[in-house]
Parts: sequence; structure tokens; C-alpha cells
Amino acid sequence: METKPKIYITRKIPQAGIDLLSEKYDVEVNPNDRVLSREELLSAVKSADGVLCLLTDKIDAEFYDAAPKLRGVANYAVGYDNIDVPEASRRGIPVSNTPGVLTDATAEMAWTLLFSVARRVIESDGLMRSGNWGGWGPLQFIGGDVSGKTLGVVGTGRIGTAMALKSTGFNMPVLYTDVVENKVLDDKCNARKVDFDTLLAESDFVSIHVPLMDSTRHLFNAETFKKMKNTAYLINTSRGPVINEADLVEALKKDEIAGAGLDVYENEPKMVPGLAECVNTVLTPHTASATEDARTNMALKAARNLSAMIEGTTPPDCVNSEIL
Ligand code: DGY
Repeated sequence: METKPKIYITRKIPQAGIDLLSEKYDVEVNPNDRVLSREELLSAVKSADGVLCLLTDKIDAEFYDAAPKLRGVANYAVGYDNIDVPEASRRGIPVSNTPGVLTDATAEMAWTLLFSVARRVIESDGLMRSGNWGGWGPLQFIGGDVSGKTLGVVGTGRIGTAMALKSTGFNMPVLYTDVVENKVLDDKCNARKVDFDTLLAESDFVSIHVPLMDSTRHLFNAETFKKMKNTAYLINTSRGPVINEADLVEALKKDEIAGAGLDVYENEPKMVPGLAECVNTVLTPHTASATEDARTNMALKAARNLSAMIEGTTPPDCVNSEIL
């Protein structure tokens, strides 16, 4: 009897993706809802023809060595800084990501953090739940204005563009940095492409949407915080290491900036000491894409990509398609 190609999924994802792969392949899913240890991961992929992995899995030369039959890696994320793509390319292994299906969910989370930190929602909620609210007061929980304030978007790929476009209802001037002009933003929200220092100096809200690369690691650090307005808020839904988290805590403590809304952290799942104590922060656990539609569509997308790799056709979202 012909044996089916073996697929390993490193953690349970929405069932739709598992079902799609199970129609044709012999699928095994990590039975525990947790990140596999390194040893567990390397041993689990020994006989895999394809692996559907997560941003919490490090996919590198050692991983590829452990999976000699590997014909493809489908990341369940749009960001793929967890994967050594050049090494995969050297070995002829295609790699894919999940662009497009989490754009709005992530942009919405950036706005959620922006409003929550500016309007001090978490602090206010805490007071209500404590039972200590003494009634309305003219000086209670005064926060930052949003409408009419300047939004600075760092990186205007799909998510940065979607985030900026959603500002039009709040009548916000938009500044952005990117390597290229963004025609959509220029046309639809009268945005201005500026250099990084101008964006830092003029923005009331700075929202980060760059991928993690050598050039963006610690892009935000002690120096950059000093260049921001001390009334400005920093929002990050991209990757934690884009911010030097220890420097951010210092900047928050010294009131060099007004606050931060973070969904991602430098050393997940840990936070740098002191961050949790900063009241002028809103902190969510890397859940920007955690909506029903986004997570289901990510599962389907990753499954379709992996299936194409196994069949030897071009995956729709291959990030190293030059090898095909
Ligand atoms: C991604 O896709 O890169 C997010 O960080 C998780 O959905």
C-alpha cells in the first residue's frame, strides 16, 4: 500500500487547517497545547515530509538536519524571523508565511492599544473592579487626545498601511517612514513620507509595523525615545526586539514618553523587569491576530501552502520562491 506523506504540526491550530491537510496526508499534531522543547521538536520531525510550524519554533540548520525528508516548511504567521530562510534555500526547501489574512486584525489591535493607553482604559477598569470609585471627578483619568493628533507609522507594508488608513475617521495627519513611497496612503489620507527623526519629533502616536531584521533590531532605544515628544505614545504590534525593552522602561519611568501599548516583547514570553509596573502601559500577550477569522484563515493558508510544497507546485505564499 502506498504510504501518505507525513505532516507534522508543532501545536494545535484551528481545526480547518488540520482537516484540510488530513484529507491527503498522514498528519500528526503536537498533542500538548504548549511550545515543544527543542529536543521534542527535533525528534518529532524526524520522518516529516512537511512541517507546519509557529513563530515560537526556531527553524534553523539543526532543525533541517533533524528532518532529512523535509519538502517544505509552512509558518503559521506572517512574520518569519524564526526561520533561517537562506539556509532553507541552500537546501532547496521552500518556506511560506500567511500574509493578507491577519492584516485588519493586527491593525485593529494597534488601534485597540492606542486608545486603551491614551484613554487609560486598563487603569480605569481596575478602579471600577476594586469597588473604590467614589463617583465622577473633573480630574480623574485625564488622558491623551486622539482626534486631530499626528499619527506616525513606521513601516507601511500591508499592516502599517491598513493601520494608517483607519485613521481617517479621526482626522489625523499621517507621517510615515518606509523605503518606498506609499501611493495608497499618499492618495487616501494625505500622508507624508518623512525621515525617521522627523517622524519621532512630530508624532503624537508612533505605531511600529516593520519586520524584525538586523536593520530594525532595537530601532527604538534610549536615543530614539529622547527624540519623541514626551506626550507621545508608542504602539508595537510587530516584533518585540524592534524595541530595546530595558530602554523603554527607563523612558517610561522618566516620562520621556507618555505611554506604550505593546502586544509583542523582546524575549517572549518574558517581559523585562519593571515593565509590568509601569502604569502608563497596556500589555497584551501577542494576540493581535487572535480573531476567529484571522486565525482560521491563517490555518487554511498555511495548510494550502504546505500542501503545494508536498505536491511540488508553487505555494501561494512562498518567501523563497527563487529556489522553485
Ligand atoms: C504574525 O503572523 O507574524 C503574528 O505575529 C502572529 O499572528
